[in-house]
Amino acid sequence: MFKQWSRKFPGLPRKVAEARDFVAALLEGEGSGPVDDALLIVSELATNAVRHTRSGWYGGWFLVVVSFGDDVVRIEVIDAGGDREPLLRSVNSDVEEGGRGLLLVTACAKDWGVQDRPGGRCIWAELARVSE
Ligand SMILES: Nc1ncnc2c1ncn2[C@@H]1O[C@H](COP(=O)(O)OP(=O)(O)OP(=O)(O)O)[C@@H](O)[C@H]1O
Ligand SMILES: [Mg+2]
Repeated sequence: MFKQWSRKFPGLPRKVAEARDFVAALLEGEGSGPVDDALLIVSELATNAVRHTRSGWYGGWFLVVVSFGDDVVRIEVIDAGGDREPLLRSVNSDVEEGGRGLLLVTACAKDWGVQDRPGGRCIWAELARVSE
């Protein structure tokens, strides 16, 4: 990973759009895609942070980190943790509503994972870089 940018956002639903804009501007600056996949990933992960962790509590925050390697773009969302665990629903789940965000992320990412961090978690996803 050669270049890395990060920004911290207040843990509010409307800040998810700002996180998208942040990632879009970085990808544009690098002339790198896939933009649509990257924006889907940051939207889903930031939404999860706000909705499912202490990031969404009063005074909460989430951190977005974007790293560019030669062949890969890595997007990380660091949340403030809590009682829940990121859970991948089965593709054939009967549950019609909800539980699709992480499935979408895993479908478009080359690789992804969850790491414990002090006071929270990092959910990361990597995409193969393409020139836009
Ligand atoms: N960052 C996170 N920290 C803790 N738990 C999480 C986190 N992200 C997701 N989860 C848990 O994993 C479940 C699945 O997440 P997923 O994004 O797939 O579905 P959802 O957020 O419930 O619904 P949708 O994304 O379709 O609106 C969530 O319901 C939540 O319980
Ligand atoms: Mg979700």
